[in-house]
Amino acid sequence: MNTPLSLYDRVMSTRDALAQRTPARPVIGFVLGSGLGRLVGALKDPQVVPYAELEHVPRSTVPGHAGKLVLGHVDGRSGPVHVAMLSGRAHLYEGHDVAELTIAVRALIALGCRAMVLTNAAGGIHTEYRPGDLMVITDHLNLQWKNPLSGPHDERLGARFIDMTHAYDRPLRARLHEAARGLKVRLHDGIYAAVPGPSYETPAEVRMLRTLGADAVGMSTVHETIAARHAGARVVGLSLISNVAAGIEDAALSHEEVTATADRVAQEATTLLERFIPMAAEELA
Ligand code: HPA
Repeated sequence: MNTPLSLYDRVMSTRDALAQRTPARPVIGFVLGSGLGRLVGALKDPQVVPYAELEHVPRSTVPGHAGKLVLGHVDGRSGPVHVAMLSGRAHLYEGHDVAELTIAVRALIALGCRAMVLTNAAGGIHTEYRPGDLMVITDHLNLQWKNPLSGPHDERLGARFIDMTHAYDRPLRARLHEAARGLKVRLHDGIYAAVPGPSYETPAEVRMLRTLGADAVGMSTVHETIAARHAGARVVGLSLISNVAAGIEDAALSHEEVTATADRVAQEATTLLERFIPMAAEELA
């Protein structure tokens, strides 16, 4: 019987598969959540790799999550900035192992990405947040209680214990704010709480999350942040507020409405990230 491949081997095999396809080495990686897939339209010379061609990358079954990796570049201030975008992600609630969910992120970092921009659609818990608002993540609450670093330790992937004090990179956050100011886009600073899903929260849970200090709630991102920090990359988190969280208003939540709103309001986020890329590249230089 074949022994299952280690996480390290699966990450490296994914990295090698990508390295064979393109000589470009991306410096910034993106995970594009609901509504944000259109950011790939900003890429020049795009090279598309469907997740189906990457043996170890889990695919999402959720409508609105494309499931492709796009490599390309945008103009920077001193030459092209090579980036890689994961358009669509699989989620914990689809039954995947949490470490498996981080393979694509780790492969991009192994390929050369020094920063990961992790985006998501989220419910607004802060009473001032409205659908369409944007929030840069300053910190998170991992209420999924699953950690992608748990399990046997493999030093090749990173240290056993990692610091999370500065998980969300301050200088890069400052650059994102600078980009937002330039576009006159309102950008909140806030705390993202990750819950297991897939049911949305009850109103009582939303009150609990607010008491815990959460400003927005979603079902993704935190394990990617942990893995990216573990692998040595800097992290930026951006939440697109697609709805007010349950119970803040009387309306019921439906996935169709949440994704439709995310699609409708995603243009500003896309423009913001397009402007941010050259600025982030300068920060990383
Ligand atoms: N709750 C959890 N996840 C979400 C929400 C929400 O209200 N909106 C988008 N993702």
